[in-house]
Amino acid sequence: MFAKHISWLSCVGCNGEIYLKAGEVVEGRLNNAVLCCRSCNQLYPVINGLPMMFSKKSHHSLNADEAEILGRFNFPLADYGFEDRQKNKRELQQIAVEKNWEYQWQELHPFSIKDLEGKGLFGQEAFKNFIPLSADRVKDATVLVGGAGRGREIYHLAKMGAKTIIAVDLGREILAARDLLPEGSQVELLLLRSDLVELPLKPNVVDIAICDHALQHVHDHQKGFSELARVCRASGQVAICVYSWEGNVIMTHLVEPAKIILHKAPLPVLFFLALFPSLILQLIIMLIYVPAARFAPRLLARMPLREHLLFWSQNRFKTTWMAIFDLFQAPISYHFKCHEVKKLAENNDLAIECLRHTNGVLWSLVANKE
Ligand SMILES: C[S@@+](CC[C@H](N)C(=O)[O-])C[C@H]1O[C@@H](n2cnc3c(N)ncnc32)[C@H](O)[C@@H]1O
Repeated sequence: MFAKHISWLSCVGCNGEIYLKAGEVVEGRLNNAVLCCRSCNQLYPVINGLPMMFSKKSHHSLNADEAEILGRFNFPLADYGFEDRQKNKRELQQIAVEKNWEYQWQELHPFSIKDLEGKGLFGQEAFKNFIPLSADRVKDATVLVGGAGRGREIYHLAKMGAKTIIAVDLGREILAARDLLPEGSQVELLLLRSDLVELPLKPNVVDIAICDHALQHVHDHQKGFSELARVCRASGQVAICVYSWEGNVIMTHLVEPAKIILHKAPLPVLFFLALFPSLILQLIIMLIYVPAARFAPRLLARMPLREHLLFWSQNRFKTTWMAIFDLFQAPISYHFKCHEVKKLAENNDLAIECLRHTNGVLWSLVANKE
């Protein structure tokens, strides 16, 4: 991380100022270091350039390498909030969220620049369809990405000319974003491992705050959205893309109830099970939807989920398989009704610039901060 970005951070426990307590700044950057709150003295590790900033109430795990790096600094683990203690239901759910996506992004589908440059789920066109920001707004802006996963949005925002990108995720897979930047990109990155509902950032630090395909998985999505609005400066924009309740009857009435059983299966088993519906879906897309789009547009107009399935026809099969697995595995998945999305904007004093039912299964919202 750039040492100069410390001035944007604030303590998630008490909003206090953050300073560098231990570790060396080399060419303006920190690799392994310890940050500290001036008011409550909570410590936050920076490991391999990635600050890990969770409140002491929310337990998050360290792997063996991270624990070894932290051990070099000789501070008690309790000062970071890493005590080994009984976890409550919410903490266990958060750990499941973190582990599930880590498995998905690091082991199953570590997508590449080729995927980001291609068509389908990871491509630029899809990103602009999910998050319809104007290119002028993004150019030279400081943008926050909440729930950034492995960095898909970072790549596209960097290509659109964003100056600085702050990307937040629960998981360590966010580090991959550093190697997935477009060639020659000058963008400055601040990657943070933290919870969207408790952003370790001062208010008014970004021009645009986005959250694409992630708010529906956040344990308190209202608080998460308020955090996006809080860190956004006056006349900035907040943009989200979330699952819609409308148009998603298979998810809301079949897959979500089935998760009670699906979630008992280990992740590799679930991934294997997802192969069968993925194959059936791929056949339906290629043998019915794609020919109908070409030869029978009137018939297509009466077919359910047409926009979404035609969009998926551009994926490579592995991506569709992963997307189905994603739908099965997500420990938390909320489907938003239109009025709930409007309420998110209203409750945070944001004026809606655009609200649309993307592909008939998602809500894309862009709202302006007064
Ligand atoms: C479906 S993935 C989307 C990732 C990325 N936005 C994309 O579309 O490529 C959802 C992401 O949200 C993250 N996430 C879920 N709850 C979160 C929270 N409370 N705070 C931060 N990130 C969270 C998960 O770790 C996961 O990487």
